Amino acid sequence: MSAVDSVIELIGNTPLVRLNSVTEGLDAEVWAKLEYMNPTGSIKDRVAHRMIEDAERQGHLKPGYTIVESSTGNTGTSLSFMGTLKGYRVVIYETTPGKMGEEKKSLMTGYGAEVKTISPKEYEGLGGVPGAEVELSGRRICLALEKSDPTVWWARQFANPSGVEAQKETGREILEQTGGRVDAFVSSIGTGGTLMGVAQVLKGHSEKVKVVGAIPAGSKKEMKPGKPYPKTEIQGGIIAEMVMTPDLIDDIVQVTDGEAVEMALRLWREEGVFAGMSSGANVAVALRLAEEMGRGQRVVTVMHDNGDRHLTTKHYVT
Ligand SMILES: Cc1ncc(COP(=O)(O)O)c(C=O)c1O
Repeated sequence: MSAVDSVIELIGNTPLVRLNSVTEGLDAEVWAKLEYMNPTGSIKDRVAHRMIEDAERQGHLKPGYTIVESSTGNTGTSLSFMGTLKGYRVVIYETTPGKMGEEKKSLMTGYGAEVKTISPKEYEGLGGVPGAEVELSGRRICLALEKSDPTVWWARQFANPSGVEAQKETGREILEQTGGRVDAFVSSIGTGGTLMGVAQVLKGHSEKVKVVGAIPAGSKKEMKPGKPYPKTEIQGGIIAEMVMTPDLIDDIVQVTDGEAVEMALRLWREEGVFAGMSSGANVAVALRLAEEMGRGQRVVTVMHDNGDRHLTTKHYVT
């Protein structure tokens, strides 16, 4: 690897690694893209970088502004990193009280953000919803701040098209790294940005590629390809568009907390892949697909974040 002028240049171009132990007995191959190799340890560096630079270009984000976001931790960390590097004040609303380990809070404050914890009362009633919908209570606060203060820029990760654009690059890297030989792709859905961006590129390459999303089991809100998903000022965005885009997503399946955590721990021990719990869920689904698809087939998935932020609390949260 060549020397670079700034750590920002280290975003993306992550390695793709074959899984050799958890796949034992399967004829199909499973490959994992190590997104935790990004500077802050998650795929969200790609997204924060693109959202901030697009907003600056479009004139929505100017010197002296405050960046706000509601986050379970990774986007918050990436925005803290990119935002403070560029001289902005960054305020993150932590949205999964009790589920976000202290590590994530420390990462965000370490990168220079202010982290505000939402009271359990504001969080009430939001349990058991899919993916990044757990961020709803924080998004309400961000919307109010954006409306009341013109110097506040809310990144709106759940609806920001720059997030999908950033993930198209992930898709292009996968095509390059596999020489275009990909038969299936799996990703957990939070905002839906990873799945949608990568799916657009892979399906553009070959409509035969199978694209499958994963969400935490027990999700009360149904998320299925072709089924309209609620869309409001604080909800729906990318997911609503993704599920209604014809021939993009083949299936969305549920994964239990236990299954995700068990697979993540196997990845640590058996593969030396030190990824988070959603990565465990991704591999659990990739293995189901590999079993169905058989010999000569290749399933690719992403390791969304680093295991370091899951040491004290282990839950499948996206
Ligand atoms: C750990 C983790 N896994 C998976 C995801 C899902 O990614 P996306 O928001 O692109 O759907 C996220 C973010 O929401 C995440 O932080």
